[in-house]
Amino acid sequence: MRAAVTAHKDFTISPIDDRVYGAFLEHLGRAIYSGIYEPGHPTADKNGMRGDVAQLVRDLDIPMVRYPGGNFVSAYNWEDGIGPRDKRPTRLDLAWHTSDSNAVGVHEFIDWCDTVNTKPMLAINLGSRGLDQARNFVEYINGPTGSYWGDLRKSNGRKDPWDVKLWCLGNEMDGPWQVGHKTADEYGRLANETAKALRAFDSSLELIVCGSSHSYMPTYPDWERTVLEHTYDAVDHISLHMYFNNRAQNTANYLAMNARLEEYIGTVASTIEFVRARKRSKKRVYISFDEWNVWYHSNEQDRKILDGAEGWPHAPRLLEDIYNFEDVLQVGCIINSFIRRSDVVKLACIAQLVNVIAPIMTEPNGAAWRQTTYYPYYLASRFGRGTALDLQVSCPGYDAEVADNVPYVDIAGVHNEADGTMTLFAVNRHASETIELEVGLHGLPAGKIADHQVISHSSLTAVNTAAKPTEVVPKKGTGAGVSSDKLTAELAPYSYQMIRLTA
Ligand code: AHR
Repeated sequence: MRAAVTAHKDFTISPIDDRVYGAFLEHLGRAIYSGIYEPGHPTADKNGMRGDVAQLVRDLDIPMVRYPGGNFVSAYNWEDGIGPRDKRPTRLDLAWHTSDSNAVGVHEFIDWCDTVNTKPMLAINLGSRGLDQARNFVEYINGPTGSYWGDLRKSNGRKDPWDVKLWCLGNEMDGPWQVGHKTADEYGRLANETAKALRAFDSSLELIVCGSSHSYMPTYPDWERTVLEHTYDAVDHISLHMYFNNRAQNTANYLAMNARLEEYIGTVASTIEFVRARKRSKKRVYISFDEWNVWYHSNEQDRKILDGAEGWPHAPRLLEDIYNFEDVLQVGCIINSFIRRSDVVKLACIAQLVNVIAPIMTEPNGAAWRQTTYYPYYLASRFGRGTALDLQVSCPGYDAEVADNVPYVDIAGVHNEADGTMTLFAVNRHASETIELEVGLHGLPAGKIADHQVISHSSLTAVNTAAKPTEVVPKKGTGAGVSSDKLTAELAPYSYQMIRLTA
């Protein structure tokens, strides 16, 4: 099978905001406790943060990490996580039917962000709480000393304001499962008044209002319209979430699901434009896709805890999906969609980062390792920075449940003028046919192949484990070549590829 692609330096989609390679950490399961934090671990630093995990995170070069939830945030009191540890209360977490010692709070999280070279994106509880605690929280984090909240922060060990810019106004407020679930009008009004108060404190904050939790939600896309009608002037981004699964065990359909993702992004982008037109506004609001991933492998085993059959355990194993090679292909396609829609998606977070539906797994007092899905995320985060190219792709397609004529090759291209590279990320969705890829390069680096990484495996269900952590890893690709401004490569059936060109 042949795929012909044309890439031109001047046919671009948008500069890619580095923050589309963000991640998410929630007080959920073992994401925090025995994930990033485990005081007794042999690699723990003086703050009790695991050094082995921090290194794997650092390697990903993540621009920002969202915290502390998720569903958890909708009943969270941020004040529980500040001050001396021995005075912090243990609380029941209504979202996940667990308890939380609050040994980690916002100080520990932001300090950890510094050690892994990332920036925090903080979420505010607009489920069980309201405007007043929101402004107090923001003042505690960013306010000057000489005022109540700044002085309290100082007395807890941090004199200088942190200057956190990204603030989520609640989480999934459209979801009936959310503590403090609201209608679009109720939420829209609260979010707008909260945003106005936060802006009165600091007009340069970047505020994210909740969109839909999924495109299957019955209130989608009216939710977006209503919420934006209330908040358009006061916010910068609208948040979307989407999780993917192959419960139906249909790989062709599974690997076509990013068509639905792109439809979702397209619809919300149009809704933003609709509200902008109604408001006669010059201002643009963008999309923060702050939860995305594959999530289904662990659903059965989680049921007991979520149903309350185990009481209120502290940091139990929850949402510990073990990802396989098939999920590598899926994650590759999802990230390609974000690159292709970099004109409207400016922030995105893989959900989540450690242990909980995550690319990094740990054992308490034991090893930390990379799941299969670590690698497409790693390669895109490291090498997908620059300007997204508007590739013209001609390739046979197939009809799937979610969309018709889904091309067998899913491909995205990034031109980085600063370092003189062009990088292609491609997934061959075909089970048995090699794709002969030909890319015409116009005004783009076409001197030599600087790197070619391939992830493939004979079994779609192959996984990485503590005992066998390198079963699915990228390997050096062979056979790609470039001459006369044309790149040629053979994409093996069911494979993920990254090809990087320099002048
Ligand atoms: O990431 C797991 C959960 O998925 C989050 O807590 C919630 O926001 C979403 O439903």
